Amino acid sequence: MAEVVIVRDADEAGEIAADLIEKLVRGTPDAVLGLATGSTPLTTWTALGKRGLDFSRVRGFALDEYVGLEQGHPQSYRSVIDREVVGPLRLTAELVRVPGDSGPIETAGDDYEAAIAAAGGIDLQVLGIGRTGHIGFNEPSSSFGSLTRVKTLTKQTRADNARFFDSIDDVPTHCITQGLGTILRARHLVLLAFGEAKAQIIAGALEGPLTASLPASVVQLHPRVTVIVDEPAASDLAFADYYRYAWEHRLPWEKV
Ligand code: PGA
Repeated sequence: MAEVVIVRDADEAGEIAADLIEKLVRGTPDAVLGLATGSTPLTTWTALGKRGLDFSRVRGFALDEYVGLEQGHPQSYRSVIDREVVGPLRLTAELVRVPGDSGPIETAGDDYEAAIAAAGGIDLQVLGIGRTGHIGFNEPSSSFGSLTRVKTLTKQTRADNARFFDSIDDVPTHCITQGLGTILRARHLVLLAFGEAKAQIIAGALEGPLTASLPASVVQLHPRVTVIVDEPAASDLAFADYYRYAWEHRLPWEKV
């Protein structure tokens, strides 16, 4: 069962996620972090950036990238990761990979999997969740065994992301994303969600049936998951009282 932490707001969630990452990097200065874009992880990156940690040896693997944007496009996830993560954390840019950043797109997925394996696997993967239930860009119907590959974005995801572009027509139709199988191989998953618009999908992912129709439900298969949600995103959880009770009664060794 995932550990579900229900917090006041995104800032408190960011501090808790930052605590987990700080502990990892203090113990393992060349830890491998799985990096997420989107609005949700921003408070985590901001909190971490203020902690004065040395991230220069940390290696990073982004979850996903659009296919078809020109290099250097401000909304490419390479640019977003550089701006929102590499900069504030003072990561070494050469140690941070984004899917599709090497060679032809047809083989980029296999290359990315090989690079993750060569790095020794991902220690901690930060995840947001889309309203379709995607993690990374694994849209409904994604196989639980899938590895990094090119996918077609749903109309819903393109509409949700249109706010970052001049018009919905400018949002790419395709992406390259770590698969659900890739995500399952990370040693610790930290899934964040905020706001009422995520309540139903979070409840489905954590407490509903395991189904490729709700790709984030795959986290139920993972032995170590920390879910950090604000009160509105937690509002449909059937076991919310139990999660609060368990968090309040953590044993001393369970605390970061
Ligand atoms: P968001 O996106 O953090 O901007 O809500 C999450 C996602 O689509 O994975």
